Amino acid sequence: MGKMAVIAHGGAGPGPERQENLQKAVDVATELLLAGASAIEAAVEACVVLEDDPVFNAGTGGVFRNDGSVLLDASIQTSDGRIGFVIAMSDTPNPIRVAADLLDENINGLTGLGARKWADNRGHANRPVEGREPIEGDGDTVGVIVRDSSGAMACATSTGGCSHRPPGRVGDVPLPGSGFWVDETRSVAATGEGEDITRALLSYRVSSRVESPQCDSLMDAMRWGLNELIPDGASVGLIALGKDGAGVGLSNTVMPWASWTED
Ligand code: GLY
Repeated sequence: MGKMAVIAHGGAGPGPERQENLQKAVDVATELLLAGASAIEAAVEACVVLEDDPVFNAGTGGVFRNDGSVLLDASIQTSDGRIGFVIAMSDTPNPIRVAADLLDENINGLTGLGARKWADNRGHANRPVEGREPIEGDGDTVGVIVRDSSGAMACATSTGGCSHRPPGRVGDVPLPGSGFWVDETRSVAATGEGEDITRALLSYRVSSRVESPQCDSLMDAMRWGLNELIPDGASVGLIALGKDGAGVGLSNTVMPWASWTED
């Protein structure tokens, strides 16, 4: 069984000064794992740290859509085959908590007003999310992957959506196989131009690539994904974690990422 591990990213695009903020999320996940938490608990709490930090485009720091609204997407998937995702949620500072609450439901995903109504019934925080103007070169998503002491993995992602997009637009983050993919052997999360990531079904195909005879590692698969599946000029990054070993990150632009692996 692999050792416990955490890897997180702060979005394709933001500068290295966000590294310190990202580290806080990895530290929270690490402490929880060391105290016996599950991969799901650690991934969600680390994602909440990033959603609560206004420097990241997720939760509190979600960027305005073209009409000034703040609409948030989040997703979580586990290595035992469960998925939860929410799309275009307003007034929800921590959409990852709502997504996580779907893991044990028959439905996988919820969107818009229905998602908010469902979250109200479950007692999830309902208050305006301040949001902010998009800034040039802004990051677009946060992501955390965790492997716990049982070897189980969970991947949590959250975003305000890429900058300069209309309300109603759906990016890669809530779409299984696009912004995230987890199975019993590995987990992959993407960040960057959601349209390009979705067209490539990037996370699923990078994960599957590891099975190919031409591929010898997760890093090799990520390199293939960025080089062969993503068009020139699109900013995209990936993080990944297997059944053992440390998490790995790769991006064709600046992407702060940080990791921890049990000694
Ligand atoms: N990658 C985040 C988005 O496209 O919304």
